[in-house]
Amino acid sequence: MATKTKKSGKSRKAPVKAGKKGQGLKPKKPAGKAKAAKKVPSIPTSPLIEVRNSPIHGRGVYAKTRIVKGGRIIEYLGDRVSHAEADRRYELKDNDDGHTFLFIVDNRTVIDAGVGGNEARFINHGCNPNCETVTEDRRIFIEATRTIQPGEELCYDYQLVWESTDDPEDLKLYNCHCGAKNCRGTMLDPVPLDKAKQAAKAKKKTKTKSKSGSKAKTKTKTKARKKK
Ligand SMILES: C[S@@+](CC[C@H](N)C(=O)[O-])C[C@H]1O[C@@H](n2cnc3c(N)ncnc32)[C@H](O)[C@@H]1O
Ligand SMILES: [Zn+2]
Repeated sequence: MATKTKKSGKSRKAPVKAGKKGQGLKPKKPAGKAKAAKKVPSIPTSPLIEVRNSPIHGRGVYAKTRIVKGGRIIEYLGDRVSHAEADRRYELKDNDDGHTFLFIVDNRTVIDAGVGGNEARFINHGCNPNCETVTEDRRIFIEATRTIQPGEELCYDYQLVWESTDDPEDLKLYNCHCGAKNCRGTMLDPVPLDKAKQAAKAKKKTKTKSKSGSKAKTKTKTKARKKK
């Protein structure tokens, strides 16, 4: 079975990159008039947190000081690879405990925190999380969703990607031990990817239909007015 990968959370509009010759996007306007691109600063390590053993699983990340709601804590760093390369790396591993350091950025890139990763890779999954992941400029940051007190374990919802055709026995590898009152029992996304795609397609179809429906209404109204 393919290793399940964390899905990126909230997405923020990335600043447009200024194009270098032969690399990246070309600015539409002359460089002099274009605003300088603001590079999102990296947070490779944080004085706010520490790594120690966790009752949830292995090691976890804990707040050393009070962290305010909305505070950006750390960047999820690691080797940026393609999905094919990530699958190849984890298929080679004897991965019968479902352990993964992979994080999906988008349909091009996966971060493998097993290579060059920082403390962010030790943040466990929680069903009642105090953190979330934010995608900015195709990079992943961990932010507090509420005030976190010193000594609290940090966690976010992994929403691991799976398919409805996956073997239910295999999916048990991703059972959750977060201990929250509202624990949903699994680190998997509540909706399998194939079903989510189907639902999105159906929604798009309905939107297109209702759009053409409202066009017809407008036409009828215009006709009626003309008759007057
Ligand atoms: C990014 S690592 C987190 C750090 C991990 N505790 C460690 O020591 O390496 C992700 C892995 O930790 C385990 N894990 C994290 N949260 C969990 C949870 N709530 N329940 C069960 N296992 C969890 C799973 O094996 C998962 O693939
Ligand atoms: Zn849980």
